[in-house]
Amino acid sequence: MIVTRRTYLLTGTAFGLMQGVPVNAQIRPSIHVVKDAGCPCCNAWIGHVRDAGFPVTFDERSIEALELYKREMGVPEDLASCHTATVEGYVLEGHVPAADISRLLIERPEAAGLAVPGMPYGSPGMGPEAKREAYDVILIGKDGSASTFTSYAAT
Ligand code: CU
Ligand code: CU
Repeated sequence: MIVTRRTYLLTGTAFGLMQGVPVNAQIRPSIHVVKDAGCPCCNAWIGHVRDAGFPVTFDERSIEALELYKREMGVPEDLASCHTATVEGYVLEGHVPAADISRLLIERPEAAGLAVPGMPYGSPGMGPEAKREAYDVILIGKDGSASTFTSYAAT
């Protein structure tokens, strides 16, 4: 199918209405990912956010350098996961769903960013959503505090 500008705009509008957010809020800023080279789930997560329309760049560091980077970016040790990404001044630790990134960018809370600690099964890039274990997306405060941003139930 040839997607004309008109059908694109119509789809965009429908999507915006469906999600209950203005169409101009659907603009996707680029995400930069820092990860270690031997991490297939990081690549799977990059695929997830790209599919959601976010442009992604990445660089690879040693595990030690990555650990250091997490601390620099304000990710507390107990909220750590595999990769550490950034978008518009926020940090995204681990397998954060694209829907939560969009919500973060719309609500723009005073916070360091979001984390999905560990690597919960069924989170984006971590196996089928249909077999998801329950997990929370955590809002990391600028002081390193943790509060629940979104709770995903087991499926
Ligand atoms: Cu991972
Ligand atoms: Cu990862």
